[in-house]
Amino acid sequence: YAGAREWIPESGGMRAVRTALPTCRGCDLWEDAEQVVPGEGPVRARMMLVGEQPGDVEDKAGHVFVGPAGRLLDKALEAAGIERKDVFLTNAVKHFRFEPRGKRRIHKTPSTGQIVACSPWLDAERAIVRPELVVVLGAVAARTLLGPDFRVTQHRGERVDLPDGTPAIPTVHPSSVVRSREYRRDFELFVTDLRTAAEVLG
Ligand code: URA
Ligand code: SF4
Repeated sequence: YAGAREWIPESGGMRAVRTALPTCRGCDLWEDAEQVVPGEGPVRARMMLVGEQPGDVEDKAGHVFVGPAGRLLDKALEAAGIERKDVFLTNAVKHFRFEPRGKRRIHKTPSTGQIVACSPWLDAERAIVRPELVVVLGAVAARTLLGPDFRVTQHRGERVDLPDGTPAIPTVHPSSVVRSREYRRDFELFVTDLRTAAEVLG
């Protein structure tokens, strides 16, 4: 993939990013998705949460984290004392990757090539928001922010630094909690990681 770089606006802040995003042809994922899903939240947010990619519901709605994973995230944020309206929520990849199965569209993890191709959009959002803390939600976000050797399962809830020095808390993706067979435990662990993030932020 050529990657998103040539579609990234040089100036104009988040408005320019949101205007340019639908024109991106940096990889092949725009072709089958309904629409691109940009990050949302205050550009002055102190905390940024980075997920994987829009899901089926997000792809249809055009908004981040409004499906089942989003409802779980909302509950967990509330339990951790974090207001959704105060944080900037985005994804590593801005278009939904899926496999058609009958009438349904089944989530498919984006490839490394697609993750790399889309990373300039996340970089642009990070450069505009300049969060004091980034919460890394799951392996795909970890791959783009912390590199392919980083293991979320080994380091969840630990304070780490992104390569640019921004403090970060890696944790699992909320959809893994939605699917968990040990839901109560995994929900509490997820909330604990979010509380850690709130504490690091102070
Ligand atoms: N999963 C994500 O990673 N992001 C969303 O926006 C929705 C589900
Ligand atoms: Fe562009 Fe990212 Fe969409 Fe690929 S997934 S077309 S790089 S916005």
